[in-house]
Amino acid sequence: MTPTRTRSRRRVAFLSGWSALAVAAAAGVVVTALPSSAAATLGGAAAAAGRTFGAAVSDNLGDAGYVDILDSQFSGITPENEMKWDATEAAPGAFTFDAADVIVDHARERGMAVRGHTLVWHSQLPAYVQAIADPAELRTAVDRHITEVAGHFRGRVEYWDVANEAFLDDGSRRPSVFQTVLGDGYIEDAFRTARSVDPDAKLCYNDFSIEGVNAKSDATFEMVRDFTARGVPIDCVGFQSHFVLGQIPADLQANLQRFADLGVEVQITELDIRMDLPADAAKLAQQAEDYATVVRACLAVAPCSSITVWQVSDRESWVPSTFAGQGAALLFDEDRAAKPALEATIAALGG
Ligand code: G3I
Repeated sequence: MTPTRTRSRRRVAFLSGWSALAVAAAAGVVVTALPSSAAATLGGAAAAAGRTFGAAVSDNLGDAGYVDILDSQFSGITPENEMKWDATEAAPGAFTFDAADVIVDHARERGMAVRGHTLVWHSQLPAYVQAIADPAELRTAVDRHITEVAGHFRGRVEYWDVANEAFLDDGSRRPSVFQTVLGDGYIEDAFRTARSVDPDAKLCYNDFSIEGVNAKSDATFEMVRDFTARGVPIDCVGFQSHFVLGQIPADLQANLQRFADLGVEVQITELDIRMDLPADAAKLAQQAEDYATVVRACLAVAPCSSITVWQVSDRESWVPSTFAGQGAALLFDEDRAAKPALEATIAALGG
C-alpha cells in the first residue's frame, strides 16, 4: 500500500457526522439521508456538494447563542488565534495547548473538520523568536515548534496552514525573521518537518490577496509548482479571501483552477466581505451576491474542498477593529440574526 493510500484511509476512518457526509458526496455516493433541515444549513448544503463549510472560532464557546449557530450551521472549525506561536509557545520550550484543545475537542465531538492555523507566520510571533539571528538556533526553534504543536494535535487536525503570508504584494518574499535568517528554504523545510510529525494531515500554504491573478499569486503559484515538481510535501493552498464589497476578483475561479491543475487542493480559508458602515439593504444585497459568487467559483473547481468564514457573526469579526468605519462582513449580524448572504450562500451551495 502506498503512503498516500494509507493516509486517505486513515483519514476517512475517523470521520463522522458532517465530514462523513462530505466524503460520501465527494466519492460520488448520493447523500439521501440528509434531513431537509440539515440541507438548509451551510454545513449540510456543503456536505451534499462534497465540501466542508467552516468558521474561525476563538474564545467564544461559553456563549450559548454563538454555539447554537456554530453547531447547527458549520461543519468545520479553524481556531482563530489559539494555535498561533504566541498562544502555543509564548516562552521558549513552554508549550500551552489548553485554549486550542477546547476548540478542537468541540469540533471533533461533533464530527467537524479541524484546520490548524498556523505553524510558521511572521505575525503573533513572540519577541524571543524575532530576536534570533543565528540560523542554526532559529532552525532548531522552528523544528521544535512544529514538532511540538503538530505532534500535540496529531490525529485531530485534518489540514495545517504550515506557512502563512510569506509573500508581499509584489511577489517578493516578506522579510520576516524566517526569510531574513534562514532564506527561501525555510518554507519547504517547514513542510518537510510537518509531514514527518503528522503524516496524515494535509499540509497547506495560506495567504491573502492571492485570490485573483496578480504578482503575489504568480509568485505563490511558482512556489507551489516548484514544490510539487520537486516532491516537497504540499497538499493544499488556502486563499484567505478577505474581500471588499463588490470587489470579488473576476478571475477567482480561473486562479483557483490553475493551482488545482498543479495537483493540490484549493480552499477558501478566511472568507469575509466587508463594507462601509452602516450596512443598508442595497449593500447587504450586494454582499449576498458576492458570497454566492465565491461559492460558485469554489464549486466549479473540483479540488476546492472547503470554504471557511473568518468567524460566525459580525459581533466577533476582526474587521471593525482593523478597518475604521468598515464591518458587517459575515453571514450573521451583530445580533446574530441571519443576513441575506446566509440564504444566498446556502442556495449557491445547492441547499
Ligand atoms: O492576546 C491578547 C490578550 O492578552 C489581550 O487581552 C487582548 C486585548 O485586546 O488582545 C489579545 O491579542 C489579540 C489577539 O487577536 C487575540 O485575541 C490582538 O490584540 C489582536 O490583534 C489579534 O488579532 C487577530 C489577528 O489575526 C492578529 O494578526 C485577529 O483576532 C485574527 O482574526 C486575525 O486573523 C488573521 C489570520 O490569523 C491570518 N490572516 C489574516 C487574519 C485577519 O487579520
